[in-house]
Amino acid sequence: MSLRYPIRPVGRDDLTAFIEPSRQAFNTDWSAASIAGLDEMVFEPERTLAAFDGDRIVGSAVAYSFGLTVPGGDVPAAGVSSVAVLPSHRRRGILSALMASQIADVLGRGEPVAALFASESAIYQRYGYGPAVAEQRYVINCRVARLRSRPEAAHPASDAVPAADAEARPGAVRATGPVTLRITEPTSALREMAEVYEAVRPTRPGMISRSAGWWDLAISDPEFARRGRSPLLSLIAEDDSGPRGYALYATKDDWDADGIADGAMVVHELFSADPVACEALWADLLSRDLVTTARAYRRPVDDPLPFLLTESRQVRTRQSDGLWIRLVDLPAALAARRYLRPVDLVIEVADALVPANAGRWRLRAAAAERTWQAAEAGEAICERTTADPDIALDVSALGAAYLGGTRLSALAGAGQIAELRHGAVAELSSAMSWDPAPWAPIMF
Ligand SMILES: CC(C)(COP(=O)(O)OP(=O)(O)OC[C@H]1O[C@@H](n2cnc3c(N)ncnc32)[C@H](O)[C@@H]1OP(=O)(O)O)[C@@H](O)C(=O)NCCC(=O)NCCS
Repeated sequence: MSLRYPIRPVGRDDLTAFIEPSRQAFNTDWSAASIAGLDEMVFEPERTLAAFDGDRIVGSAVAYSFGLTVPGGDVPAAGVSSVAVLPSHRRRGILSALMASQIADVLGRGEPVAALFASESAIYQRYGYGPAVAEQRYVINCRVARLRSRPEAAHPASDAVPAADAEARPGAVRATGPVTLRITEPTSALREMAEVYEAVRPTRPGMISRSAGWWDLAISDPEFARRGRSPLLSLIAEDDSGPRGYALYATKDDWDADGIADGAMVVHELFSADPVACEALWADLLSRDLVTTARAYRRPVDDPLPFLLTESRQVRTRQSDGLWIRLVDLPAALAARRYLRPVDLVIEVADALVPANAGRWRLRAAAAERTWQAAEAGEAICERTTADPDIALDVSALGAAYLGGTRLSALAGAGQIAELRHGAVAELSSAMSWDPAPWAPIMF
């Protein structure tokens, strides 16, 4: 295989040829030059992998270097993307060869986990990935969506949380007073958006670090990708202390046959550091004149939005798999996160691609007393053992549960985990769960 289609990284000069498998495999109408213009913003040539047939690139994969928030911590992670094989070369094992090369490279770089968004959910479990973050997409009828008034008990007596608490907790609710809203070009709101994003990121397993290049990509907004919608706009929620939330959105004007306004809005991102900012942003976006339908993508499963509305069913929701996680260095990955309950058990792991992960591991951890204080709780320890196992599973199941969203008990119900001691699945499942739910809002 590797002799027939040798695999190696490519340089910047090869970007156009490198993009070709993706262009064809994803059936896109975007030109190579257009895609290259976007890819260049975040390109890491040394992390590309191209499969060659002679001098022609027939398969591709890249990894981006991210920090990934995990329960109670942050780990270096490989963000896998641009995985494609030319239609003429499918089902010859090229993807399998790319995955094996890439995982070896990630391991060599000391990144304990890899993450990806899958085009189809049937592809990646065989390479040890598990569905770790569920995401929701919304369609909201703005004509009938109304925000409910807040219960009296939710109105704070003072204007801000105690300073000590605000300092101790990453992304703490800093203020509860009113916000003002400002609409601006995204290019002139980068500092405010980054400040809000960085306040939210440590609180949410699944969120990735965003370098300057990734911010440039987020607001690049090329016309060929708009599909008739307006340029992106930024809605900033702020007070005298600074930004407390933002939304990135676009609109599209439309009118029905009777001349009645039927405009649409797409909310690309909406982050808030506190409930007042969250409510103010949604209240404004869902009440715009001439807009009848709002859509939002990659929202978290514990999103406050349905609870903000009088009729939560107006948030018509579809849920699907979002981020997939692969534990590449299993003991390092399991020791790098914190656990919601005390845990001490032996796990028998199968891993077809990384033999160093396979076998029996004893996982011990004290409980994190409160999720946001978890970093101060006892270290988790994951070490080799010869003791009898309590649970047997594939490494993909641990990847699925790693960020605290997917329950091992659900996988056990599907027959994917063997419980060898009564109660062990519930113990590990609840210890690995987390609050808040993981969220992967940024596609890569
Ligand atoms: C998905 C894709 C990369 C697979 O590449 P490939 O070189 O044909 O894959 P391989 O030949 O290495 O297949 C390896 C295994 O995965 C299976 N497989 C491949 N693509 C699959 C798919 N889309 N759905 C289910 N199984 C798939 C193969 O049947 C094979 O199974 P086996 O090991 O049991 O025989 C390629 O078809 C493609 O480019 N598709 C369109 C773009 C895309 O979806 N990329 C993934 C982005 S996240």
